[in-house]
Amino acid sequence: MAHVFIVIGKAEGQGPEWHGHVTALTVAPEYRRLGLARKMMELLETVSDEVYKGYFVDLFVRCQNNVAINMYEGMGYSVYRRVREYYGSLGFGKGGRDEEDAFVVVGRGIHHITAVE
Ligand SMILES: CC(C)(COP(=O)(O)OP(=O)(O)OC[C@H]1O[C@@H](n2cnc3c(N)ncnc32)[C@H](O)[C@@H]1OP(=O)(O)O)[C@@H](O)C(=O)NCCC(=O)NCCS
Repeated sequence: MAHVFIVIGKAEGQGPEWHGHVTALTVAPEYRRLGLARKMMELLETVSDEVYKGYFVDLFVRCQNNVAINMYEGMGYSVYRRVREYYGSLGFGKGGRDEEDAFVVVGRGIHHITAVE
């Protein structure tokens, strides 16, 4: 049976960096724009906050994934830094194409944006 949505998260980090991390979030195309991703993010934030006492929630997102980036920003998240070739190397290195780069997106309490090459 095909999936409707998948969400995977965990708690990680040490000391003041202890936080919830969204490992994967995907909704099947025919079930999108129904608020499922928003509900799943709210659930992950609640678990991170109330169960694990995390200080914030973060995740990686492909730099070209404008739909997801806009969605997270609409939920109050901010781009924190850029990780070169997080999704693999295209062999171009610094200054090359950015399809394989990721943004670290952070919610709760961290509002600055830092670009890291
Ligand atoms: C990104 C994704 C998870 C969104 O799931 P979803 O269940 O459709 O999202 P929601 O219905 O909860 O939408 C929440 C808000 O995000 C924004 N949004 C979501 N999809 C959008 C789209 N295609 N275009 C514009 N805005 C969009 C809207 O602001 C929306 O709120 P609204 O419907 O009240 O306007 C889904 O498109 C997906 O699975 N994409 C492929 C996998 C992926 O990119 N995952 C994220 C990787 S980090």
